[in-house]
Amino acid sequence: MRLEGKTALITGAARGIGRSFAQAYLREGAQVAIADIDIDRAQATAAELGDGAIAIRLDVTDQASIDAAVAGTVEAFGKIDILINNAALFTAAPIVEIERADYARVFDINVAGTLFTLQAVARQMIRQAHGGKIINMASQAGRRGEALVAVYCATKAAVISLTQSAGLDLIKHGINVNAISPGVVDGEHWDGVDAFFAKYENKAPGQKKKEVGESVPFGRMGTAEDLTGMAVFLASDAAEYIVAQTYNVDGGQWMS
Ligand SMILES: NC(=O)c1ccc[n+]([C@@H]2O[C@H](COP(=O)([O-])OP(=O)(O)OC[C@H]3O[C@@H](n4cnc5c(N)ncnc54)[C@H](O)[C@@H]3O)[C@@H](O)[C@H]2O)c1
Repeated sequence: MRLEGKTALITGAARGIGRSFAQAYLREGAQVAIADIDIDRAQATAAELGDGAIAIRLDVTDQASIDAAVAGTVEAFGKIDILINNAALFTAAPIVEIERADYARVFDINVAGTLFTLQAVARQMIRQAHGGKIINMASQAGRRGEALVAVYCATKAAVISLTQSAGLDLIKHGINVNAISPGVVDGEHWDGVDAFFAKYENKAPGQKKKEVGESVPFGRMGTAEDLTGMAVFLASDAAEYIVAQTYNVDGGQWMS
């Protein structure tokens, strides 16, 4: 087991990719705090995943909630070795229809939420004086713009940039900050994305999903499980010398 004795805080882990990360970390011997704004679902997920998993209420847009989630994880497990900044919100609209409130909300969750959760956990890791591993969730959307997805793409480009800056700053404390850039991953998130495209590109429900799956060089959409190998590796001792990088795990969709 590659994460024996480690403790992890995973944001947005009540469902989807974060839930699969929690499951994979438990398999590898870690204890995991499933932190989510949807506390009922986080509790159900923690109960399903069993021993070693706890649910914590977290709204990444609220500093007091971030501080409480960090304190709650330390209270439960004694320390935090790993953070995955996974919580995010998708949005789409043509440029001429973007609304300031939607822009602010998505930036608050995806960018400020990532930065200030990273900051709170980094402060805890520095106090612990044993280094740590921080993994941010970027996206192929952060590698280039998309006509209907300007705001979400910009937030994920910002996550890649924050990963670089935080990685360079925190490595002196033995904290490795890196990111994972998925392509298109099937699940509830993409059901929502599909609905946006059905609206703006006049497609039948499910059509966009089918098209993007066929466009992946690997031959299908990703699954949350497809991302777990990289998430375990970046959290493990094998990744000590990896600093400020963003790794594509996307079936060949993007090369950088
Ligand atoms: N699914 C994809 O195709 C895909 C592709 C590239 C990147 N990603 C990224 O991977 C990550 C996980 O994606 P997913 O598909 O599992 O998404 P998801 O929408 O299924 O899950 C997101 C989780 O975040 C939680 N959340 C939302 N706002 C929150 C807040 N303010 N505070 C705390 N938690 C909050 C939600 O309750 C939910 O449980 C995201 O960062 C996403 O941008 C996903």
